Amino acid sequence: MNHLIAPSVLAADFTNLQRDMEMLNNSEADWIHFDVMDGVFVPNISFGFPILKAIKPLTVKPIDVHLMIVNPDHYIEQFAQAGATNITVHFEACIHLNRTIQAIKSAGCKAGVALNPHTPISFLEDIITELDLVLIMSVNPGFGGQKFIPNTYKKLYDLKALSKNRNPDLKIEVDGGVSDENCKELLEAGANVLVAGNSVFAAADPLQAISKLKHP
Ligand code: DX5
Ligand code: ZN
Repeated sequence: MNHLIAPSVLAADFTNLQRDMEMLNNSEADWIHFDVMDGVFVPNISFGFPILKAIKPLTVKPIDVHLMIVNPDHYIEQFAQAGATNITVHFEACIHLNRTIQAIKSAGCKAGVALNPHTPISFLEDIITELDLVLIMSVNPGFGGQKFIPNTYKKLYDLKALSKNRNPDLKIEVDGGVSDENCKELLEAGANVLVAGNSVFAAADPLQAISKLKHP
């Protein structure tokens, strides 16, 4: 499977979202990563439906919504209607994860589960066959521009082993501190979707930064 690049809107210039969306349309980016933070599940607040609705008509790419919120079940339908292609919820935020995953699929979206850095891959054993995507957090969620946590490599290997027979088409996404310096190793370890915020938007040439991640 060719790997995908998902630049994170969190690192875009919010006063120039139209320009940044046009840049992504003209780039080798595959998805638009959209980080929703509620100030409860994570110690930060980002953006929600109004911004998602605003960028939806500006992009030609699928929108990959990453919900860092408590009670995600309450908002699945609204995110689907606002234009989400994928909806990823946090394992740590879902008491009835199987029900939540079914709700995401019923809303017509691809369903993902995100794991915080301390949450082991083995916790996915009884849900892995139901998932379209697993997102491995390689920083503690809440902020862009943080330092990559090296234990992520082990988790990617573990997830690759778990999904090999039981869900070979699984998208394995890594999120946080991804750059052209670690992307090759991440892909070798099992990642097939790279989220990148600062390494794209803070680059002198974001188009080239995306291209470097796409062709490491
Ligand atoms: C962090 C978010 C990430 C963030 C990544 O909580 O989930 O998607 O935007 O930003 P960088 O690539 O700058 O670490
Ligand atoms: Zn994210």
